[in-house]
Amino acid sequence: MGKSISDAFEEVMAKVGEIGVQAGEAVKSFAESESTERLARGMKKGTRTAAEGIAKGAKMAAAGIKEGSQIASEAIKTNAAKKKAGREQKRNFTLSNGVKIPAVGYGTYLSTENNGKQTILDAFEAGYRYIDTARFYQNEKEIGEAIKESGISRDEIFICSKVWPTMLGKDRLRESFDASCEDLQTDNLDMYLIHWPKVSQNDEEWITKLQDSWEAMEELYEEGRIKAIGLSNFLPHHIRPLLETARIKPMLDQLELHAGYMQEYALQYLRKERILAQAWSPLGRARVLNDERVRKLAEEYDKTGAQVLLRFLIQRGIPVIPKASSLERMKENLDVFDFSLTSDEISYLSCITETGWSGEHPDLAEWEQ
Ligand SMILES: NC(=O)c1ccc[n+]([C@@H]2O[C@H](COP(=O)([O-])OP(=O)(O)OC[C@H]3O[C@@H](n4cnc5c(N)ncnc54)[C@H](OP(=O)(O)O)[C@@H]3O)[C@@H](O)[C@H]2O)c1
Repeated sequence: MGKSISDAFEEVMAKVGEIGVQAGEAVKSFAESESTERLARGMKKGTRTAAEGIAKGAKMAAAGIKEGSQIASEAIKTNAAKKKAGREQKRNFTLSNGVKIPAVGYGTYLSTENNGKQTILDAFEAGYRYIDTARFYQNEKEIGEAIKESGISRDEIFICSKVWPTMLGKDRLRESFDASCEDLQTDNLDMYLIHWPKVSQNDEEWITKLQDSWEAMEELYEEGRIKAIGLSNFLPHHIRPLLETARIKPMLDQLELHAGYMQEYALQYLRKERILAQAWSPLGRARVLNDERVRKLAEEYDKTGAQVLLRFLIQRGIPVIPKASSLERMKENLDVFDFSLTSDEISYLSCITETGWSGEHPDLAEWEQ
């Protein structure tokens, strides 16, 4: 901690006082050794010198204090700006190519079943500007209509869609991408992901199909049709063969991640490769919400279980895309920036026994051809 201005001032004045005492001592010893006349002359001269010295000292002290207070106020301003930047940083994550993505996006799987595009309009009203969809969700049309109706400008909304594994291959991927864009009423996407690495366990051609598909992704990226390209449900052993031929590295991998299913080996690999992990089912599709350990923490922070689970992932450096049906829950899931879990709580939640897994695994999936 630096000195306060009043401490510094007190110190300067103490020094001035000390000098005064020294001057007095000098005059006293002079008086003891000199004649009265010489003493009077000496005192006159001494007083003038002392007065000049004090005036000069006071001027210097005033200038010092002014400069000091300027430095202090600059430091206060810089510190406040740093804190603000810290707060803003937590609301966005930056991909390896510099593209920023919100820490909390809106997941749309099965979200439009009951109320169609109104759910997406509600999500915008709640404050979401990131929409996660996929060709497979069959709701791109509703999302496109909602974006148009919302009146929010296209460049304020981050849209992510995904190509289904049955559409892998260079030409088919492009075809699927164009269809998504058409339904979403846009020429370009902010992010596009390969939804799953393979169609089935017996898909012997999966590596070739992936490498060809990635070439198409790279081309779309270079044409400016996609701002960020990535993967979903890719584990390290799916990414390694892709990287053998890739010219551009994937920027993100969307995985099932939540307390109770943290896939630490995959997370470690992604960090090493500078591929950002993003969490799907961050609430474990509500299966983890009622976990006693999560509820206890929620009570301590006066937050909800959902908020604790989302906050946990964000603090682990993982953006989230929860799905909720009501406006109230949508808002609740966005309201996760006013508290912080301790490192011990993060460690604890990272290590709870496996719970809430969806049962979907990229090497065991069987998607229809
Ligand atoms: N890449 C992939 O393969 C993949 C796979 C699955 C999902 N995703 C994406 O990830 C998104 C989220 O995953 P998800 O929908 O499976 O699961 P989730 O977000 O973990 O959980 C959604 C469930 O939690 C409930 N919920 C949400 N907020 C709540 C709150 N504040 N309090 C209590 N309950 C709450 C929802 O209920 P209500 O709806 O009734 O409010 C819903 O039942 C999906 O929508 C999709 O965009 C991607």
